[in-house]
Amino acid sequence: MLLDMADGYVEQNRSLDKRKNLLRGRTVVNLFFENSTRTRTSFELAGKRLGADVINMQVSASSVQKGETLIDTAMTLNAMHLDVLVVRHPDSGAVKLLSEKVNCAVINGGDGSHEHPTQALLDALTIRRRKGRLSGLTVAICGDVLHSRVARSNIHLLNVMGARVRLVGPRTLLPSQVERMGVEVFHDMRAGLEDVDVVMMLRIQNERMRGNFIPSIREYFHFFGLDYDKLALAKPDAVIMHPGPMNRGVEIDSDVADDVERSLIREQVEMGVAVRMACLHALAGPLPNADGGA
Ligand code: CP
Repeated sequence: MLLDMADGYVEQNRSLDKRKNLLRGRTVVNLFFENSTRTRTSFELAGKRLGADVINMQVSASSVQKGETLIDTAMTLNAMHLDVLVVRHPDSGAVKLLSEKVNCAVINGGDGSHEHPTQALLDALTIRRRKGRLSGLTVAICGDVLHSRVARSNIHLLNVMGARVRLVGPRTLLPSQVERMGVEVFHDMRAGLEDVDVVMMLRIQNERMRGNFIPSIREYFHFFGLDYDKLALAKPDAVIMHPGPMNRGVEIDSDVADDVERSLIREQVEMGVAVRMACLHALAGPLPNADGGA
């Protein structure tokens, strides 16, 4: 349902008049405790294109800096009668905790290494629009799976949608017993990419690493960086994805990332706005007096 709704919003976003007042009178607050370009901006655009009032809270300029706790921050915002709170937090589980303290809808914009559900939705939409389906496709998720909330959310969603998921990476960057999540595991990238339909690369998340997980950037790129040599093992029409931000020359070769025929990285960003519009629509719902529709 969300993907079908998002398909409609793709068309709206490509038209001259991108605004519909479906969520007029509704208030959306973006509360990001971690940096973001794509997620924060696309939620802001999504809310504004649906006619909602959107506030981006500057955590660095908020009372969090004076020691106010996450719960007190949530309860303070709750008193202002929000409709949707979009939260990103560096700690896994923080968004769920916060959601239990407020009356409004809460959307997880990424919590630690745990989940990034709207990223998985936009990835699914991107794949479905290019391939026409998700069921039966083989998707290789490659790189730093251990620290990746994008990988976890994608594993869940792709499995539900009937895709086959492979995880490819060095032992140090794959969670132990990850096979229990219904995936196949490969430590040799060439074997892992054989005949796949989609190659989803992940960023090396230096900011979440405590200690050394890879011998060197050079060696990592040699074995696990996506270049045309390794891509040749995938299906001839296999597509390349990356949630961004990318470390060019670390997990992905620049020419591969910018390949207009194979890379869907820019489409992923476009689909992000449409998917987030669908999520806001589904959660906030139109007011009876709102004009316009999706
Ligand atoms: N993919 C993603 O979450 O990007 P941002 O960190 O820029 O939001």
